Amino acid sequence: MLDRRSFLLNGTGFAAAMSLSSIVPQTLFAASDGFIELIAREGTAPLATSQADAKPTRIWGYNGGVPGPILRCKAGERIKVRLVNKLKQPTSIHWHGIRIQNDMDGVPGLTQEEVKPGESFDYNFEAPDAGTYWYHTHSRSWEQMARGLYGLLIVDESERLAFDQDIALAIDDWRLGPDGQIDEDSFGAMHDWGHEGRLGNWITTNGTSNLPIKLRSGQRVRLRLANTANARTLKINFDNHDMMLVALDGRPVPPEMIKEDGVILAPAQRADLSFVATGQPGSKYSIQETSYSRPFEFMHFVYEEGARQTKDGRTPLALTPTNIPKLDLANARRTNLLMTGGAMGMMNGAMHMGRMMSMRDLIENKKMWAFNGVAGDLAKPLVNATVGQTIVINMINDTGWPHAMHLHGHHFQVVERDGRPISSAPLRDTELMRPRERASIAFHADNPGKWLFHCHMLEHMAGGMATWINIENSV
Ligand code: C2O
Ligand code: CU
Ligand code: CU
Repeated sequence: MLDRRSFLLNGTGFAAAMSLSSIVPQTLFAASDGFIELIAREGTAPLATSQADAKPTRIWGYNGGVPGPILRCKAGERIKVRLVNKLKQPTSIHWHGIRIQNDMDGVPGLTQEEVKPGESFDYNFEAPDAGTYWYHTHSRSWEQMARGLYGLLIVDESERLAFDQDIALAIDDWRLGPDGQIDEDSFGAMHDWGHEGRLGNWITTNGTSNLPIKLRSGQRVRLRLANTANARTLKINFDNHDMMLVALDGRPVPPEMIKEDGVILAPAQRADLSFVATGQPGSKYSIQETSYSRPFEFMHFVYEEGARQTKDGRTPLALTPTNIPKLDLANARRTNLLMTGGAMGMMNGAMHMGRMMSMRDLIENKKMWAFNGVAGDLAKPLVNATVGQTIVINMINDTGWPHAMHLHGHHFQVVERDGRPISSAPLRDTELMRPRERASIAFHADNPGKWLFHCHMLEHMAGGMATWINIENSV
């Protein structure tokens, strides 16, 4: 059972910087029926208070903070959350990366009704697999996520791993004005929708700037990184530390050292890193985001003074790699997904709301992208399949832009890229497609329901890059 001690407050940004033993459990009281309340409401966060003119930022957050509380349980346990909507807009919560029962997936119009202002909705589901996940609104996400409606969801392995610290970090890219407030005037700007999405000008970790992460020499550390930005693909570099990649999108992978170009995380992707803290006591090491025009120090390691060095002979801990389900490529259900549109694209028009529209009509409806010539209509699925089948989707990115393609309820593997077969790719729930790239993904359809498949650059999703996959029980 998920008890309230397993919910850790992370709203101040501060807690994550301290060693596990000093994180204070958030006092969240489950109602007598065992539900934990997440109240979607307005609040403030110290996003940029390190800047002279910046006041705490007015945000929308779960329980008024950003990120929302870390939800934590063990693999196989149940999560019971009551979403209470105290916003002026309808909302919902999606549990990104969880193999969830379909009616708990949180997609208004596909798996549930929107939760209206003043209403609530009970989410009650099992979290089957250990790993790093997150939760976020799935309503008007280009605005609601940009305002802060997300949090981390950590599913722990059933046996305790020997990490000295386990640190979860939600990294976000905000567009702030000089007063530190969210730039609201640019919400819905068609320029963002047609280009890479809403790119920001300020990076935070766990809702604060340049987060200090306290380490002691010799510690074995697990860092869980999640990209919660609307659109920016993060490139993260660690000064003077050898980091080992141990999981992607929640699923353990065979360990691999991170190379010089750093960790690349598209929107919604996660990476778990494992390392031994090899810094000098009393020193500081910067962690930088390098996709900005200048490197942006958005967090740093600080080593305790005078701590004893115990690093000798220590190696980073690995995780047990996930068993990858066998794919039946020979008999797979195959479909193509042609991605078109966007600025400098060649799209002339697309189907929207059941009729063919010109580019001009599409833009009036805030649509500028299409999958297989359809802009964002969910009337029909991309593919119908039955439980037990392997599904292959051949994605053709015929646009000049990258896209972070995300499938709900399943993890998939890339089996072909630009015509070359790929074997033993990691299981992922979000894959970054480069401009003009082709990639085929495959997965075993084992979870019945209606599963959204969309670009996680939120302005692209809103602008038409969304479809779904229908999986039915075989008779
Ligand atoms: Cu993380 Cu449909 O989303
Ligand atoms: Cu998802
Ligand atoms: Cu996209």
